[in-house]
Amino acid sequence: MGNQVKTPPQADKHLLQIDRRHVWHPFTKVGAKDPIVIESGEGAVLRTDEGREILDCISSWWVNLYGHGHPHVANAIHAQALKLEQVIFAGFTHEPAALLSEQLADVLPGDLNRVFFSDNGSTSVEVALKMAAQFWQNQGQQRTRVMVFDGGYHGDTVGAMSVGVSSGFFDVWKKWLIDVDVMPFPETWAADPELEAKEAKALQRVDEFLEQHAEEIVAMIMEPLIQGASGMRMCRPEFLRALVERLRNHEIIVIFDEVMTGFGRTGQRFACQTADITPDIICLSKGLTGGFMPMSVTVASDRIYDAFETNDASSMFCHGHSYTANPLGCAAALASLDLLKSSETDHNWRRIEAAHRKGLQRLSEFPLATRQRIRGTIAAVNVAVDDTGYQSHVADQLKSFFWNPEGDRDSFLIRPLGNVIYLMPPYCMTDEQLDRAWQAIFEAFQLLAK
Ligand SMILES: Cc1ncc(COP(=O)(O)O)c(C=O)c1O
Repeated sequence: MGNQVKTPPQADKHLLQIDRRHVWHPFTKVGAKDPIVIESGEGAVLRTDEGREILDCISSWWVNLYGHGHPHVANAIHAQALKLEQVIFAGFTHEPAALLSEQLADVLPGDLNRVFFSDNGSTSVEVALKMAAQFWQNQGQQRTRVMVFDGGYHGDTVGAMSVGVSSGFFDVWKKWLIDVDVMPFPETWAADPELEAKEAKALQRVDEFLEQHAEEIVAMIMEPLIQGASGMRMCRPEFLRALVERLRNHEIIVIFDEVMTGFGRTGQRFACQTADITPDIICLSKGLTGGFMPMSVTVASDRIYDAFETNDASSMFCHGHSYTANPLGCAAALASLDLLKSSETDHNWRRIEAAHRKGLQRLSEFPLATRQRIRGTIAAVNVAVDDTGYQSHVADQLKSFFWNPEGDRDSFLIRPLGNVIYLMPPYCMTDEQLDRAWQAIFEAFQLLAK
């Protein structure tokens, strides 16, 4: 990776001035350092306006699955744009939406057959919660309680913030949120001696809660296997199965938020398959379009959909967005599904997991590198510091080390979640690139150990 830095052209300096004056960036302190200007991307590499190459080790906020600028997806969007770019989706349909719905129903387990479109992960969660609440209402039941897990994150809109309240990101808006019931999450890692005790404690709490409130519960929502934003916190499939068995005994709606885990992240197409569970509702976004277009789907089982099949207008699901089922998004998602189904993708998942095992193994010499964990293409390790969590002091230090503003080493887009360093690469990342990413993490620990 040649990092020959060229003098930034005047136009790009101008660009930063404009950005500083007019752009409000997400999850960024006002007055923070200037953002990095990205001009292009190819495969796992992003290129800055200065010609610097950055290895994208987090798939650009977990969305880019098959590499930047993948021609199969890009061409599909181009062809669709020349044919039909957008049409109202209430009372109308179109080929890419119908075909995509059919294909999603085909790749998802069980009777997850009813596809509702929206634009981003947060809205896919809002839709799931509203569907679940109205499912009961349409049958004459007013249920209000929602079961969630400690540390869960589901997006930034009001309903999504409510069910993700324990992630710690939303204290400012606490008074605005709907009440939820938070269960303990049995977070685990390699050689965790307390694993079984934590799972037993969590299940006991669930049992107690169900005994008291089963008839009031709208749904249980969780990120299956991996809680992403709160620090790549992982649990075992065995725990999920024990949990869902209990919920099934009370016919409680199971919502899996697979916005992050969907489309291969956990080493199978969906985390629910890794856990051998079919939820009643699944939320998908991020990798849905391979990282090309903002789009999401909330896919419901036939049981959920059937509760809306009535002539009574008040039973209709009153939800929709201007860009619902945008044809360009659907075309990108269809092209992405082609890539998902290819044997090369499957091979890449195994290859990346093997590289992660090797990389984490190398860190075992550092006492500071704790709680090592892998699930499919995601690997994480904690830096053992006193101030853990998103605001940990090591986060900015590490981000800057990996980005390497001096440009004398390779640059990596590795963005620690507080004191948690993780890799979630696009599936096209080569062994050589993965090796370099793990070497950078090794060097970061060398530095921290000094
Ligand atoms: C599990 C999960 N759900 C929902 C969301 C929200 O998605 P979006 O940022 O597209 O609104 C995210 C985003 O990181 C997520 O990880």
